Amino acid sequence: MQKGVTVWFTGLSGSGKTTINRLVETQLRKTGIRVEVLDGDDIRKWLAADLGFSKEDRRKNIERAAFVAKLLTRNDVLVLASFISPFREMREYCRKEIGSFVEVFVNCPLEVCVQRDVKGLYKKAIAGQIEHFTGISDPYEAPESPEVTVYTDRETAEESTGKVIGYLQSMRYIPPA
Ligand code: ADX
Repeated sequence: MQKGVTVWFTGLSGSGKTTINRLVETQLRKTGIRVEVLDGDDIRKWLAADLGFSKEDRRKNIERAAFVAKLLTRNDVLVLASFISPFREMREYCRKEIGSFVEVFVNCPLEVCVQRDVKGLYKKAIAGQIEHFTGISDPYEAPESPEVTVYTDRETAEESTGKVIGYLQSMRYIPPA
């Protein structure tokens, strides 16, 4: 029997949230655990298509995601949510609202994210073409006491994935290996 929980990946754009999220998803699905993925890039295409990146719009984006995560979590689904969610206050809101909540800090230095620039957005943000860009012209408040921290600049994706799975097992959200 699995216990509902939301695993909330927070970190800069390009830090590796989606990569680790997908690897955790694949591994959990293999063992028959009911999983749902909520990813900022995806949610913003549908549920939050009307929102931009001002503090107020990010708040609404996270509130909507938290609402969906809460419904799933209370029905014993394991939710894997990836959002930059740069404001501590909003992540604390999610924790309170959802109840069963694990914060994973996808820690990667800004310089590395800028260098990776997977979507070419940092280049534009640095050139002043994107306003409110997290890490460049908007803040990112790192978590103070996340349940798990992964360092994607010095761990392999498999190592980071293993840390998340290991934590979920140790807390009995999923059965031990
Ligand atoms: S959040 O701050 O509201 O949590 P979310 O995770 O949903 O952000 O969306 C982040 C994604 O939107 C980034 O990965 C990037 O592709 C895109 N994006 C577009 N504009 C911005 C911006 N100003 N700041 C951050 N990400 C942006």
